[in-house]
Amino acid sequence: MINLQTEYLGLKLKNPIIVSSSGLANTPEKVKKLADNGAGAVVLKSLFEEQINHESHQHVESSDYPEAADYIINYTKQNSVEQYLDLIEESKKLVDIPVIASVNCTTSDNWVDFALKLEEAGADAIEINVFFMPNDKDKKADKYEETYFRLAENLKKLVKIPVVFKLGAYFTNPMYVTKELHYRNVDGVVLFNRFYAPDIDVDKMKMTTAEVFSSPSDIRNTVRWIGLMSGVFPNLSLSASTGVHSGKDVVKMLLSGAQTVQICSTLYMNGVDYLKTMIADLENWMKEHNYTDVESFRGEMSYNKIEDPTIYERSQFMKYFSNHD
Ligand SMILES: Cc1cc2nc3c(=O)[nH]c(=O)nc-3n(C[C@H](O)[C@H](O)[C@H](O)COP(=O)(O)O)c2cc1C
Repeated sequence: MINLQTEYLGLKLKNPIIVSSSGLANTPEKVKKLADNGAGAVVLKSLFEEQINHESHQHVESSDYPEAADYIINYTKQNSVEQYLDLIEESKKLVDIPVIASVNCTTSDNWVDFALKLEEAGADAIEINVFFMPNDKDKKADKYEETYFRLAENLKKLVKIPVVFKLGAYFTNPMYVTKELHYRNVDGVVLFNRFYAPDIDVDKMKMTTAEVFSSPSDIRNTVRWIGLMSGVFPNLSLSASTGVHSGKDVVKMLLSGAQTVQICSTLYMNGVDYLKTMIADLENWMKEHNYTDVESFRGEMSYNKIEDPTIYERSQFMKYFSNHD
């Protein structure tokens, strides 16, 4: 009998496959569909700090009564917030798997009190997706990083439910940032977020949006950093995100030491019922390799466990190039 049970952020999951934050989980019905197809947990679509501000200003600009501006800003903010809280409450009524709220933010102060409402609405954990384009030539990296650390402190002072940071892959030293978050009692990190990127259509001479979905080859960076971090932070929950497209990819990430994986693009491309295939493929792999539970092989291919761990550190292609004339 195969047992896929997994602990993540102190929560019990029936399997390690989490559906990551996206439009796949923006209504209670969709959350239920994900649960019915076997998701171990679901991260709800993010509430965007930026979106709340933007919505508020649009309403204000179209108002004929400037004196109503403050009221409208407050109302719009409240409304988005209320809708999101309803999404948590209703989803929780429909499913028996953990429902993780998600906030996409750029500051460490303005919105933080709102986290309490997420907790009150019944979220099992809060995932923080904090990002701002670090394009100020006069600002050193540590100044940007302070926002993450202050946010972690503020949140952990406020809420009792677990807090997990979904990080981008572009830190100079992801290990240091993760350590500092861990020191501030953050319960886990998701490695990595995938960002919107611009592209250029050279025929139409127009700016466009680059492909929004990941491809299986995008998993490589995730493998590297989960493999490196899982030995260094044994008490921190690690969730592998970006490029996890198949059951075999789930196995890879568990072998490199992740507690859970998060999937998004593969469900957009293959349909939500592809979750079942991924779970079956994970179980089949475990049967073939005589594993009955996830714990018995988690981290077996991580930096600390393999014979030549330098393979995780190697980044230049010198040897590879010299073999390819
Ligand atoms: C259409 C779409 C919408 C997304 N919306 C969000 C979001 O609201 N919040 C968030 O943190 N990530 C969002 N993401 C990022 C995904 O959660 C995930 O981190 C990213 O797609 C990488 O995982 P994947 O390779 O499995 O797609 C979105 C991704 C896609 C493709």
